[in-house]
Amino acid sequence: PSLAAFLAEMPKIELHVHVEGTLEPETIFALAKRNGVALPYADVEALRAAYAFTDLQSFLDVYYAGAGVLLTADDFHDMVFAYLERAHADRVVRAEIFFDPQTHTARGVAMATVIGGLTAGCAAARAALGIESVLILCFLRHLDEDDALATLEAALPHREKFVGVGLDSSEVGHPPEKFARVFARAQALGLRLVAHAGEEGPPAYVTSALDVLGAERIDHGVRSLEDPVLTARLAAGRVALTVCPLSNLKLRVVDTLADHPLGRMLDAGLAATINSDDPAYFGGYVGQNWLETFEALGLDRDAAIRLSKNAIDAAFVDAAGRAALH
Ligand code: HPA
Ligand code: ZN
Repeated sequence: PSLAAFLAEMPKIELHVHVEGTLEPETIFALAKRNGVALPYADVEALRAAYAFTDLQSFLDVYYAGAGVLLTADDFHDMVFAYLERAHADRVVRAEIFFDPQTHTARGVAMATVIGGLTAGCAAARAALGIESVLILCFLRHLDEDDALATLEAALPHREKFVGVGLDSSEVGHPPEKFARVFARAQALGLRLVAHAGEEGPPAYVTSALDVLGAERIDHGVRSLEDPVLTARLAAGRVALTVCPLSNLKLRVVDTLADHPLGRMLDAGLAATINSDDPAYFGGYVGQNWLETFEALGLDRDAAIRLSKNAIDAAFVDAAGRAALH
């Protein structure tokens, strides 16, 4: 088969997707109507026109506005189920899905509504499509650590419904060390640890995500190559980096996909993977990320196999689960 067909048919694992970033504009308007929520956009076209991002913050402003339509457990169920249907169509067999509870609890939505709805949606997709999925609770780094600590405590009645914690939102000015205590608490609870670092922030944030937070995977990490000591360490430790090429393009981390560092990351021995981040906002789900990146960088089947193995090794599964994925 052609490389495009090979990539399309290849079983995939998605390790970096924010469920709130899978809300399509039509869904945002449908939920706004269903829930009687006013939106600062006149219609779907006006909302889509706002997707001309200049950096991470310009995206986050629209993303948080969009998430404001989510109120009921059904909303969360339907959102994650719709994402898993699309992922399944892209041959995703397992997804480890981020959610941002503070975006919802700050609006008065109960933690049980958020986690209960998402868990039910994941279960429904597992039953209907056979797709495996787990949830990772992310703390918003533009808020303070006490808010993150209170969020973790509020989630503990649902401890068995998420496998780990992460760190997202505005990166620059909010270094990993700001969240040392809440990550230590999560680690003591047996939760898996990941953090966004080195997307817009400097390589030093990747280093402190590893050293101060104990992050097991780095989300993005594309700026790591600027630091040769860090690059050597990530390569030697086979630390997975969940790279999101179309996100980096839309948020202007790179000027063109041809400039994307993914090929250089693989050449440097980094355990990079391909993911979609916020597919409804960035112009493509995970299959599109694979296809466009391979075309722009001239990557081959060998690279596809290496990227896939990296994702299998990085997935939060036990030894038997990993053997089944290989
Ligand atoms: N970076 C930081 N925070 C986010 C992102 C991202 O790419 N997507 C959703 N929240
Ligand atoms: Zn992300």
